[in-house]
Amino acid sequence: MRVAIVPGDGIGREVVPVAEDVLRRLHPEWEYFPVELGFGRWERCGAAIGAEEMRALRDADAILFGAVTTPPDPDYQSVLLQIRRDLDLYANVRPVKGPGFALTIVRENTEGLYSGIEWSLPGSACTLRVVTETGSRRIARYAAGLVRGGRLTIGTKANVLKSDTLFRRCAVEEAEAAGTAWEERYIDALCLDVLMHPARYDVIVTTNIFGDILSDVAGHLVGGLGTLPSANIGDAHAFFEPVHGSAPDIAGRGIANPVAAIRSAAMLLNHFGYTDGAAAVDAAVDAVLAAGVRTPDLGGAATTAQFGAAVLARLV
Ligand code: NAD
Ligand code: IPM
Ligand code: MN
Repeated sequence: MRVAIVPGDGIGREVVPVAEDVLRRLHPEWEYFPVELGFGRWERCGAAIGAEEMRALRDADAILFGAVTTPPDPDYQSVLLQIRRDLDLYANVRPVKGPGFALTIVRENTEGLYSGIEWSLPGSACTLRVVTETGSRRIARYAAGLVRGGRLTIGTKANVLKSDTLFRRCAVEEAEAAGTAWEERYIDALCLDVLMHPARYDVIVTTNIFGDILSDVAGHLVGGLGTLPSANIGDAHAFFEPVHGSAPDIAGRGIANPVAAIRSAAMLLNHFGYTDGAAAVDAAVDAVLAAGVRTPDLGGAATTAQFGAAVLARLV
């Protein structure tokens, strides 16, 4: 197995080494190779990613990613969105687990408001929200396949947006075809209900930007962004990253919470069938948190490195 290690920018450079240590502890026989991309690279050489880095990502069996900084500059295109599109990582899977609930947000990852089709005019700017039947059906099928005993919740704004009436129709048809129980919710009400009644939910499928927002909102259920992992899955590539970003407000201080990155590594293990290893990693994180070792975002005083060392100590 060949794993590309992509720290990226900001706290990505602090949490990814911890997650990499965890993978190396379980699988010293795998090949790990660093890939440098992100805003830092852009500042240095004018491009956030080069052809060589893109080739390295394509050649990898799995990618472990930290975070990249994306400045609000009309001339800067997010390298993360470029990678998701280029590798056709269409399913962004974001599990949110806590006492008494385990829900998974499945976010369409290649189109919607992130179509990349946009233009600026004098006095206005337009972004095209493209929702295709093919894109909607494949994400709905993927999400329906994750339902275990519960139901698929389809989150849209189909009361207002034609693009979402199409998404809704495709998702309903795919759920029916798969024999999966389903329900629909408008995304605004869903954002609140997920916080109020998380145990009601199993798998939620939604379009790109709605899934982006909903997953950060759901972070409230589990202590914040420092804990939420994700997987970006395509038919040919698999890419694992925390839900959070580069956190410039705390970067460089060694206090970032590595839980999201470590659990993303556990998702990597799970994806490739190493379910015992994945469970061991999640159990080690749970045990360390239960023992009161926490980074400041969770009210503790542990550093990123101390938390990582405590997890490794439970993995021997
Ligand atoms: P962010 O997720 O980086 O940070 C939001 C807040 O959560 C900050 O207060 C931060 O300190 C805190 N936080 C996030 N992760 C944490 C962790 N592991 N431990 C402790 N605290 C943590 O989001 P933002 O501030 O909106 O964005 C910052 C930059 O990151 C922007 O340039 C944005 O575009 C980029 N971003 C990148 C990704 C990614 O690469 N996957 C995701 C989101 C945002
Ligand atoms: C995420 C991030 C990205 C997104 C940004 C950084 C492009 O917020 O992965 O949740 O909007 O998808
Ligand atoms: Mn986001």
